[in-house]
Amino acid sequence: MHLTREEEKILDGEYGEILRKCMNLLVSLGEIYGAEKLIPITSAQISGVSYKTIGDIGLEFLDDFAKENVKVKVHSTLNPAGMDLDNWKDLGIDEEFALKQLRIIDAFKKMDVEIGCTCTPYLTGNVPKFADHISWAESSAVSFANSVLGAKTNREGAQSALASAIIGKTPYYGYHLDENRKATVTIEIEENVLNNNVEESIYGAIGYIVGKEVKKGVPYFKNLYKLKPNVDDLKSLGAVMAASGGIALYHAERLTAECRCKKVEIENEEKITLGKEEIKDAYEQLNTTDRKPELICVGCPHCSIREIKYIAELLKKRNYKIKSELWVCCSLHIKAIADRMGYTEIIEKAGGKIVKDTCMVVSPIEDLGYDVVATNSGKAAVYLPSFCKSEVIFKDIKELLMGE
Ligand code: F3S
Repeated sequence: MHLTREEEKILDGEYGEILRKCMNLLVSLGEIYGAEKLIPITSAQISGVSYKTIGDIGLEFLDDFAKENVKVKVHSTLNPAGMDLDNWKDLGIDEEFALKQLRIIDAFKKMDVEIGCTCTPYLTGNVPKFADHISWAESSAVSFANSVLGAKTNREGAQSALASAIIGKTPYYGYHLDENRKATVTIEIEENVLNNNVEESIYGAIGYIVGKEVKKGVPYFKNLYKLKPNVDDLKSLGAVMAASGGIALYHAERLTAECRCKKVEIENEEKITLGKEEIKDAYEQLNTTDRKPELICVGCPHCSIREIKYIAELLKKRNYKIKSELWVCCSLHIKAIADRMGYTEIIEKAGGKIVKDTCMVVSPIEDLGYDVVATNSGKAAVYLPSFCKSEVIFKDIKELLMGE
């Protein structure tokens, strides 16, 4: 792998041990994947934030970085933490957990990482341009950036995204190269699905099947546009494909960035057709129980303000009465708008909560006594059983709130 003189110096430890470690990690990754060089990035999205997922080892690792006064070189944003950073007591989070979580946040803050704590940084100001090279962790954000925005990132892990943020570069391989961005499998939706009115959870069901079938290829959705997905539907679709199959990039005719620029090459005419039967099957696989929900969770990936408005409108129609607990997960930024618009008040009047900075998967909900969780998110439905030991109800939010 070719390194510049400056990169060699960093690797030799001339700028300190932390930078050496970061450079060493990037060079090792580059060598494993056959990168010829490092390239500059314009932004980073860093995962590995929740104390639930990184534990004491992760906390100590971050503390060591922060103590050395190391700062990130590019605009860097942070994934959800394990709790609402301000209202953790209201959620019933244990104090020991909270104090450790706050130390993690403090370490990132010292490194100059923006403490937005969201998996939708593209809704809160970290918006890469078309063809920008970036280094993002958080699989749903990776998919959105690569596919909807047309930026270029591999599916980074917590440590590689942090190392890239600190060095300001990433190894040039994988989805940074146009040759790896070609579509490999065409997905066609049958007329018997396209002719119906659909609600948002269908994108979770479609993405779940495609993720499982395609695994590591690049899907190309030929006629998905006929369902008229909005941008929230696309974030949901990408999130579940990343969860069920590890997909980091998809193309969709008339919808995603490279298709709209007519840049997509379709390499392999493998084709998957999805009809009513396959979609029904996906709902059956994602629903693991007939029990009543104890907690309804929306906002995986974190809600946009449009989604929160929709929930508030449903609750008004429901006359503010719901039996289960309700968490609406979003970023600090989106909550601030929801507060101003009066949506928070409506949700709270119905007994729900807008929960910021965290989500149903990375917070310790299994310790809060919720065994049956309902969600409209395909990604959450995939992860809840293993991450939180929850039984899952997977439906549209309208059905979840109005059907109780
Ligand atoms: Fe975001 Fe948590 Fe889902 S990090 S994508 S809301 S699992």
